[in-house]
Amino acid sequence: MFTSKTPDAEYKRLTEGDDSDAGENVQSQTSKRLSLLEQSFRRSSIIHASILLLEVILCALLISGFMVLNQTRRAVGSKISLDGLSQLGSYNTSMKFQDGSKHMADSHDADNYWRDLLDSGGVISLNTEWARKQGLRPSAQSPTDPSQSIYQVDVFHALHCLNAIRQNLMSETPPPWDETHMLHCLDYVRSQLLCHPDLTLVPTNDLEEFVLDEVHTCRDYNAMADWVYRHRWVEFPEWLKTKAAKNKGHEATHNHTMAEPSGHDHS
Ligand SMILES: *[C@@H]1O[C@H](CO)[C@@H](O)[C@H](O)[C@H]1NC(C)=O
Ligand SMILES: *[C@@H]1O[C@H](CO)[C@@H](O)[C@H](O)[C@H]1NC(C)=O
Repeated sequence: MFTSKTPDAEYKRLTEGDDSDAGENVQSQTSKRLSLLEQSFRRSSIIHASILLLEVILCALLISGFMVLNQTRRAVGSKISLDGLSQLGSYNTSMKFQDGSKHMADSHDADNYWRDLLDSGGVISLNTEWARKQGLRPSAQSPTDPSQSIYQVDVFHALHCLNAIRQNLMSETPPPWDETHMLHCLDYVRSQLLCHPDLTLVPTNDLEEFVLDEVHTCRDYNAMADWVYRHRWVEFPEWLKTKAAKNKGHEATHNHTMAEPSGHDHS
């Protein structure tokens, strides 16, 4: 009934050997068997332990790998999102450029338009630790909150420059800026155009004039302005006023408008 199909080949061979040696001491046979059993148990338990250890190591590796991956993904993710700033980078609106001569005229309406457009000057206040984690370059500490650093969204610098050029060309009361500043401003607008070339393909009717009413694919300026408003340095206008009052100098109050709080040209 019981065939010799024991799983342990070595054990089986020895039993067979025992059978042939009929005169052997039964007790020693038993102890031999026992020690063999013990050995095989020990061996298999060592193998089991090794497998278990391997499994634990593998698990630990997997978990730590997953954690590292997760952390990296979070770091990269937050770096990319910059609290929603990166989504503003997508060109998700379209517009036709309108004849905006009125925006450039020497008029109260135009002055108001520019005042509204420049508004905060794009000057924002960000948590310094957070900014560091995003990989931003260190910036000046906020005088009103030591945990914050001050930055400017650069398009406001370009807009400020464009308005400065407008004022020099059109306004009855041009800002008292010197030629160096004017040249800097013109060049800043040039750099901005080269940095963000508009790829709209504009048709022509007569091979000379290219139409003005083509639809352009644009970033959402209003969404960007909302973002800037949410992160604006609230005390900035007040800080500017205080600084101007401290300087007392007649030119000092006019030297730099809202858009350039640091007062140096970053060209
Ligand atoms: C464009 O994307 C920004 C960021 O996601 C969003 O705030 C804005 O509403 C979008 N604009 C349009 C017109 O979909
Ligand atoms: C303002 O600008 C003038 C020349 O443009 C300069 O001489 C003067 O030092 C400036 N004042 C301040 C406070 O920066």
